[in-house]
Amino acid sequence: MKILLIGSTARTDCIAEAIIRSASKPELFAVMPSLNPGVKKKAKELIAHPVMDFPFIVDYAKKIQPDFAFVAPDDPLAEGLVNELEKAGIKSFGPKKEVARIESSKSFARELMQKYKIDGLPKFKVFSEKKGMQEYAKSLEKIVVKPDGLTGGKGVHVQGDHFDSIEQGLSYADKILEKGKVVIEEKLEGEEFSLQSFCDGKTVLDSIPVQDHKRAFENDLGPNTGGMGSYSCENHLLPFLEKKHVEEAHKIIEKTVLALKKETGIEFTGILYGGFILTKNGVKVIEFNARFGDPEVMNVLLILKNDFVEVCLAVINGTLNKIKLEFESKATVCKYVVPEGYPIASVKNQFIEFKPSKEAKHFFGAIDEKNGNYLMTGSRAMAFVGIGNSLTEAEKKAQNAVNLVQGKVFFRKDIGTKELIQKRVNHMKKLMKSE
Ligand code: GLY
Repeated sequence: MKILLIGSTARTDCIAEAIIRSASKPELFAVMPSLNPGVKKKAKELIAHPVMDFPFIVDYAKKIQPDFAFVAPDDPLAEGLVNELEKAGIKSFGPKKEVARIESSKSFARELMQKYKIDGLPKFKVFSEKKGMQEYAKSLEKIVVKPDGLTGGKGVHVQGDHFDSIEQGLSYADKILEKGKVVIEEKLEGEEFSLQSFCDGKTVLDSIPVQDHKRAFENDLGPNTGGMGSYSCENHLLPFLEKKHVEEAHKIIEKTVLALKKETGIEFTGILYGGFILTKNGVKVIEFNARFGDPEVMNVLLILKNDFVEVCLAVINGTLNKIKLEFESKATVCKYVVPEGYPIASVKNQFIEFKPSKEAKHFFGAIDEKNGNYLMTGSRAMAFVGIGNSLTEAEKKAQNAVNLVQGKVFFRKDIGTKELIQKRVNHMKKLMKSE
């Protein structure tokens, strides 16, 4: 078996590992923007090439004739790489562009939820011009301002986090309007979680809930990032999340998959990632992604008991109803090491050194290998994942591994610690009691 992997970050390195672990012993071919040292080691061939060059990728796929291609990042999914590969007769894991809009257009996602009466929808309005925007924003207690398109997790601005007054939010919205549509929403209070579900268009199989940490610095301070680290628990819930909440989230994902088919005529296949928030009024949707999360993929694939390639084939062939997903009863903690200055003014082309730890897994992100040295290219550099019988054990393993990294880097020591988790639990308890 041959598999072609298209990707960019440590998410791709982790997917590569899950692929080569398969009992079918597939040969892995990969296209990534740089020579990712992790994927290079795992693949038969790694080509460093921009992943938005579709003619190049389609030609390469035609040459190697993989059993399937796996498209990991949001941009090529949004622009239709899966459509192009399928036109060339290459089966692919990942949604076509018409349904990947659930991630690439925030207005499409909200209007779909509204039209098909999907639960978990906050108050929102889409604006293409200033008219009525101020009045609407002022009718909400606090607001969130979202550009319509992809922003790498960094374009959404939240009152209280990124700006203080409604006027400041409106001035950000004005800037967005110069380029395209803007979505204004009510700000939701609660604790966020991600649920990444395998979909073949008909069947939805959930992985386990994970909590990501978007802010750059400890105690949830600083600018938003792509995600500084994440954790999952051995009971496959989260300390503030019960089974009934995961069931609510599952129903929302299922209804969204059906709505996408009705709206576009095209089945959503691949991973539908629900970015949820538990509020005192139940589970609400912050956003959808049409792919695995980064870092959340690492919390899930490292404890997946099934053969990952078999699950991918079931997604592609529409036979997910024949699969039962199983995960080990282990906790996981992932910590990202990022270059100094990330995400606003990262140092670039700086060396990073590390000693592989027996206790934790490591995955390479934005790193180029030159003459045996690792150079950071500016984005999240390396992810370290501890796996244990408890969160405490998993966190310790991840942190011990991160401590062995040297270079102009930083990381969040607090991810997965008792203190931060207790803070999240207390936050949720307080909200549930509030009027
Ligand atoms: N960690 C958030 C994302 O992958 O979008």
